[in-house]
Amino acid sequence: MASLRLILALVAVAVASLSASGRGGNTGLSPGFYDLSCPQANGIIMSVLEKAIANDSRAAASLLRLHFHDCFVQGCDASVLLDGGASEKNSGPNKNSLRGFQVIDEMKAKLEHVCPHTVSCADILALAARDSVILSGGPHWEVALGRRDSRTANLTKANSDIPAPNSTVQALVAKFKRQGLHEQDLVALSGGHTIGVARCATFKQRLYNKADVTLERSYYNGLKTVCPKVGGDSNVSPLDFSSPRRFDNTYFKLLLEGRGLLTSDEVLLTGNVRKTVDLVKSYAENEALFFHHFAKSMVKMGRISPLLGAHGEIRNNCRKINS
Ligand code: HEM
Repeated sequence: MASLRLILALVAVAVASLSASGRGGNTGLSPGFYDLSCPQANGIIMSVLEKAIANDSRAAASLLRLHFHDCFVQGCDASVLLDGGASEKNSGPNKNSLRGFQVIDEMKAKLEHVCPHTVSCADILALAARDSVILSGGPHWEVALGRRDSRTANLTKANSDIPAPNSTVQALVAKFKRQGLHEQDLVALSGGHTIGVARCATFKQRLYNKADVTLERSYYNGLKTVCPKVGGDSNVSPLDFSSPRRFDNTYFKLLLEGRGLLTSDEVLLTGNVRKTVDLVKSYAENEALFFHHFAKSMVKMGRISPLLGAHGEIRNNCRKINS
């Protein structure tokens, strides 16, 4: 009996150390990870963020998106922040599009000053995304911490794994499934488009290639003035034009009115997948349900393949690996 207990104990230790030492496990992350080593972490991140949003009201949206684009490419490991030729910043979905890098730099610099070599860039991204949602009026969730930073980036994966704005709903579902996320996560997380803007280049094909009948007429005509047939690719339009800085469920209400900006927004309602259609309607009716599901899905997304234990590193500078 005693030897059986000993074997079970050894197996438990082996499983725990395995899951805490590589990618993919969830067990190594915990909300209190910096409680002793850097209790100021969240306060520092929040104060830099408040200042950034006061200077640029779009900063909250940009930081929320940054965490998403980090997690979808080889996991939440801050690979998106690395500079250099093979940087994910040079991929199709990210180039001339991702923003917020200087805000992360400022957070990191302040954290290095107060608790050197302690808080990972990947955790900064996760906390900044959560705090951006809170400061925009959205839900709160507890962020499990302890992610480490990668020593590599993956430009090819950034091109292939981040969903495109002209995707079908089937393609969106497939890309989310690859990350362990399901239809409910897809619809709830797409609700992140309740804040921020998109460039004309990302929705032009809806206006001119062949008239998109799903777009409500006056909205369609308004978009054409922002996004001319030739040129104007960097002009922007809000993803939720009625409350672009407020995190609420208006995005879903607008989808029901044919006023969703991207094809990838629109197809959640018109793409013939029963589950996504039902969820769009439910979230449009019930903001509390949307908030609840959004928070749950952000926690899930934040747990995609973290680097744990001895894997990866705590970068000194989020833009480059430690030498
Ligand atoms: C479902 C698949 C998704 C697609 C196809 C998609 C696509 C896009 C595109 C094309 C833009 C505009 C980029 C530009 O014009 O430069 C954008 C912006 C944005 N996306 Fe998504 N997105 C998706 C999911 C998400 C998710 C899961 C989140 C976060 C939870 C998110 C948050 C945002 C935010 C906040 C912005 C505005 C950023 C800013 O104003 O700087 N998106 N998205």
